[in-house]
Amino acid sequence: MRIAMIGTGYVGLVSGACFADFGHQVTCVDKNAGKIEALRRGEIPIFEPGLDALVASNVKARRLDFTTDLTAPVAEADAVFIAVGTPSRRGDGHADLTYVYSAAREIAAALSGFTVVVTKSTVPVGTGDEVERLIREANPTADMVVASNPEFLREGAAIRDFKYPDRIVVGTDNERGRKVLGDVYRPLSLNQAPLMFTARRTAELIKYAANAFLATKITFINEIADLSEKVGADVQQVARGIGLDNRIGSKFLHAGPGFGGSCFPKDARALVKIAQDHDVQLRIVEAVLGVNDIRKRAMARKVSNAAGNLRGKTVAVLGLTFKPDTDDMREAPSIPLVTGLLDMGAKVRAHDPAGMEQARKELPDIEYCDDPYVCVRGADALVIITEWAQFRALDLKRLKREMAQPVVVDLRNIYRPEDMAALGFIYEGIGRRRTSPVNVVEGGRARIASYTRR
Ligand code: UDX
Repeated sequence: MRIAMIGTGYVGLVSGACFADFGHQVTCVDKNAGKIEALRRGEIPIFEPGLDALVASNVKARRLDFTTDLTAPVAEADAVFIAVGTPSRRGDGHADLTYVYSAAREIAAALSGFTVVVTKSTVPVGTGDEVERLIREANPTADMVVASNPEFLREGAAIRDFKYPDRIVVGTDNERGRKVLGDVYRPLSLNQAPLMFTARRTAELIKYAANAFLATKITFINEIADLSEKVGADVQQVARGIGLDNRIGSKFLHAGPGFGGSCFPKDARALVKIAQDHDVQLRIVEAVLGVNDIRKRAMARKVSNAAGNLRGKTVAVLGLTFKPDTDDMREAPSIPLVTGLLDMGAKVRAHDPAGMEQARKELPDIEYCDDPYVCVRGADALVIITEWAQFRALDLKRLKREMAQPVVVDLRNIYRPEDMAALGFIYEGIGRRRTSPVNVVEGGRARIASYTRR
């Protein structure tokens, strides 16, 4: 099959490289000439494990190439995927579809022979209808079908998610369109991924409903974590205890500092707007957004509760990106957290394995360190915000030696409270009892060995 991928952002580049890897002939198109030149040189503009090697091998095999001009690739394509950005529109939370619609108009002019035009960007319900109308208006004789094929990739695990999806959703009632997309995804049926055909609007809604549901699940367990702290329960065990019920499922039940990223906040806001436009109030999703925003802002207070008044103190922060294995800082919980710490008068030093360059744009007033141990040197408290693998096995004895006060606030629960207490840390996780150190000397006075429960 011949595929044209319009947009070399996250979704476009990962999807294009994976389709090529299946053996399809793929051309990725982007208006940004600098980006295309860089891609031709083998430079990948995003941080995604394994993507550079995947792109390189498929370019070498001549199944993947890059261009700024969509004319030839669209004319030759069996399927044209629109994978351009749909940012939140300033002010009203609606998805901004400017890029989708201008791509549709340009595609219309270049179409030749039967082609399926596929929206892969996350677009509001009904966008496929408008894309079809725009193409028909610009090119009334075009032999084409517009389908919706939402993506469910997670940053940091995108290639695996693409190659081993839980399901593939294809939204079109047109039989010829279904056949073409069935052929495009045939290699995945070997992995037994269910290919689900639906009407176009249903597919568009599935994407939003999936993201809003996952955001709800996270927010639910975050609130249960708050309650766990008060009643002396352990949210990790609560999550396991409920997650083993197949009807609930164990995934996306990790309590933390609140969800961030480029999708959950933006898509949940857009879904609320879509519903409002249709006189439906999605009260649960609205509440999820509100609760999550408040939570992210409340995390700085959690640090001051553990470490005391922060004025003049130094707080070390490990992890800045919204999740591990990405350099993405969009809506990262670290932003309101660090801002809150600065507002409380703290000095902040931070380390992140991949996100420091992006973070500097959002958080210019902190000190960046290349190494976790340098970061914690002389610190009065350490906050772990992102659960990067390299933070899971830190040399804790060394960490404690480097710190001025052994206070650790672990917002991802990557350490065990009893281990931290035994090592002499004042340790606070999420949704678990706070532990005080065994035999720690504080202010010259020995504290009683204890393992306190709040
Ligand atoms: C998400 C969806 O998972 C994906 O299907 C969709 O295509 C895009 O949006 P992504 O934003 O890359 O993917 O990351 P994800 O792993 O889903 O995490 C989103 C946020 O939720 C992160 O801030 C993460 O830390 C948080 N999270 C996730 C939790 O706090 N707890 C969890 O149990 C899971």
